[in-house]
Amino acid sequence: MKDPAKMLSEIEAKLSADVGPTGKVVTALSGGIDSTVAAFIAHRVLGDRVRSLFVDTGLLRAGEARQVVERMRSQGIPLELVDARKDFFASLKGVTDPETKRKRIGETFIRVFEREAVSSQAKYLIQGTIAPDWIESGGNLRDVIKSHHNVGGLPEKMAFTIVEPLRDLYKDEVRALAGLLQLPEPHRQPFPGPGLAVRVLGEVTEDRVAILQRATAVVEEAVEKAVSEGKLRLPWQYFAVLLPVRSTGVTGDNRTYVDTIAVRMVESIDAMSATASEPPAWLLRSISERITRELVGKVNRVVYDITDKPPATIEWE
Ligand code: XMP
Repeated sequence: MKDPAKMLSEIEAKLSADVGPTGKVVTALSGGIDSTVAAFIAHRVLGDRVRSLFVDTGLLRAGEARQVVERMRSQGIPLELVDARKDFFASLKGVTDPETKRKRIGETFIRVFEREAVSSQAKYLIQGTIAPDWIESGGNLRDVIKSHHNVGGLPEKMAFTIVEPLRDLYKDEVRALAGLLQLPEPHRQPFPGPGLAVRVLGEVTEDRVAILQRATAVVEEAVEKAVSEGKLRLPWQYFAVLLPVRSTGVTGDNRTYVDTIAVRMVESIDAMSATASEPPAWLLRSISERITRELVGKVNRVVYDITDKPPATIEWE
């Protein structure tokens, strides 16, 4: 890995040249490490020529929009919250194909930014795309594995030029930069740009996202509690996926026929490959008990994904 300080000065010089002496920009924050690092660098280089927007897509984890805005404001980034939940759910109506979902989300992001940024006369949109995003979106692989929303889903015509200051970096390098910039929680787990949409298999509706938000909170709380008690090493990623697979169950005297939650935990260094974690059985059992209790009538079965990447990917879509 390159020296982080050298990496930072090269990125800053290039960003300054790309945007020019008077260019105005908007940054697209997702709350994840990549876009946060990109936004911090943009504010360092461009000062008040940057307007940072955080779009509430409705596809975030429970409470996440508020947390991100508060965290960034406490770090001195005046993040503006844009409520675009209606736009995103409308764009996903009836869509079940994973690539179509990603493209619709990418397009909706851009349209929302265009709408929001017209008033600030910004010509540039800064995105936190990193190398695995475009490599896996067909940048130099023959087969497109996944169109990561911040690459594959971009519409042909846009009112902006996209600037991607981190596009040659891998995850571990971005984390090193976050450390250098003294950003909070540099080891927060990665979260995909299209959010929970790629973890709700089948159609993405508000109701189904709400189910997954609950299950996600259970997995995160259980893992983080076990880590804080010294019973578990923090996995690289740990999350829930809602499967459109109904199966028979029983609650009290009643037969149920409802959906399945898959729990996924993986170890990785750069997300290009990953190994399924082997969490203790008691942890999985307590996650299963809580999910089926808190989502009674909605989920009656919890399974654990034991597949490495490759052949699977980390996310299910
Ligand atoms: P996959 O599922 O391709 O994921 O093995 C590799 C890593 O990337 C995250 N991921 C994304 N990140 N935009 C992002 O910024 C996306 O569209 C996206 N899709 C997956 C995933 O969580 C994992 O860390």
